[in-house]
Amino acid sequence: MNAPANLSARFCLEVAPAPCVLVFFGATGDLARRKLVPSLYQLETRGLLHACSRIVGCGRTPHTDASFRALIAEALPNAAPAARDAFLGRISYVRTDDAEPATFANLAAHLDTLDLLDTPAPFNRLYFLATPPVSCQPLVTRLAEAGLLTETPGGAAWRHLALEKPFGSDSASAAALDAFLHSHLREDQIFRVDHYLAKDTVQNILMLRFANILFEPVWNAHYIDHVQITVAESVGLEGRAGYFEQAGLLRDMFQNHLLEMLALVAMEPPATFSADAIHAEKKKLIQAIRPFPCDAPETCIVRGQYAAGKGLPGYLDEPGIRPDSQTETFVAAKLFIDNWRWRGVPFYLRAGKRLAARESEIVLAFKPVPHSMFSPDSPSELTPNTLALRVQPQENVNLLLQAKLPGPKLCIGDLPLHFAYADLGAWDAPDAYARLLLDVMLHDHTLFVRNDTIAASWQLFTPVLDAWRDTPGACPLHTYAAGSEGPSAASDLIARDGRAWRPVV
Ligand code: BG6
Repeated sequence: MNAPANLSARFCLEVAPAPCVLVFFGATGDLARRKLVPSLYQLETRGLLHACSRIVGCGRTPHTDASFRALIAEALPNAAPAARDAFLGRISYVRTDDAEPATFANLAAHLDTLDLLDTPAPFNRLYFLATPPVSCQPLVTRLAEAGLLTETPGGAAWRHLALEKPFGSDSASAAALDAFLHSHLREDQIFRVDHYLAKDTVQNILMLRFANILFEPVWNAHYIDHVQITVAESVGLEGRAGYFEQAGLLRDMFQNHLLEMLALVAMEPPATFSADAIHAEKKKLIQAIRPFPCDAPETCIVRGQYAAGKGLPGYLDEPGIRPDSQTETFVAAKLFIDNWRWRGVPFYLRAGKRLAARESEIVLAFKPVPHSMFSPDSPSELTPNTLALRVQPQENVNLLLQAKLPGPKLCIGDLPLHFAYADLGAWDAPDAYARLLLDVMLHDHTLFVRNDTIAASWQLFTPVLDAWRDTPGACPLHTYAAGSEGPSAASDLIARDGRAWRPVV
């Protein structure tokens, strides 16, 4: 994952990890095939998997090594045959079922055999749970019973566990999950994945803010009018009705991806670029968010559900969805951060499924100039500056300025200062999961989520979920047409403040 050759990278940290056995549970599932396997292959082709590292697929489906390798090969349709075969040579398969403890004894025996294959035994081991949330506790229990989480004396080889959200579904369940994990593992052995944190453009928030002198002086309530964070998806459920019906959009996207991005945009500068320093600032920021007024939630948080539109089915027509489902597929919220930097600045966040386009962006809207000599009677004729960080697609950074347009003497208009990642040369950008897998092997927690920030975010959102459940009338579920920009109530939320959402295009 080197920077493109035509850029001079001044601060390029890329360390190849020590030998490791990567054990994937749910290895035949969607996440493994769509994201994990291609990401591992990217690491392979970039020389970032140690020559002695091995990959073990685990799951309930019976497979031989050969049939599993054939499945993996299907997930790499464009791989060069030689590199693909070298990659497949690292892979083996063990059938495991958390209802059958003996299968974990088999796994332990297999891993011990791998330890003997190459010289630097015992190996580090990474267990990645690419499985549905219900499997987490049974799998960790079985791993612990089989002695697979026990690190070798003197720290010669580590045992790491990587797991995907959801990390609980409210404050109480998140605390219970955390207590369970800590009954088997230290916090530093646990890597909680929020893949948004590993997107290049999300990582860039910290670089942009803290490696440039330009932004920090104006990054506060004196100069910023408001902030918008949007994660709009055009897709619907993509076959995940069972999970989504239980979760809903607030738990699926808001409590994690949006809040993490908000924290990066709004936190104070950490003293060092270390995981602990960054996590400490994120936690402080999340704790400074003003609680939603649960007596009047509709004034600051709106939920919606898509109905049929643009030839697309409504949520209630999707397979596996209850006909009277109240699950939200859209959330918009207005937040305030009660600290010195952000006092009084509204943060508008929204995310939804089946919206008009796929678009994730963070926009800082600056205040207008206090006096305009160009239009003294109406400074509002000048468009205030905006800094837009486009997370995806067409990843870019766009600073909208007022500048002279060619032509008559007084001809001012909107002109962008702009860079797009796509313009930086032909670069096969690594997937977020490649970054994450590498970092778990390197014991770097920076792009993972720490338990105390999860607790802080649930503290914020659990009362909202309770209010939606207990007094649904006070916070109705608005419908919006599939393919639209969301419910009109979301537009009203921001319009009441004299502002508007950026169009989703
Ligand atoms: C996942 C959510 O975390 O993120 C999905 O569970 C969502 O519902 C996905 O579709 C979006 O990720 P990306 O990287 O495609 O924006």
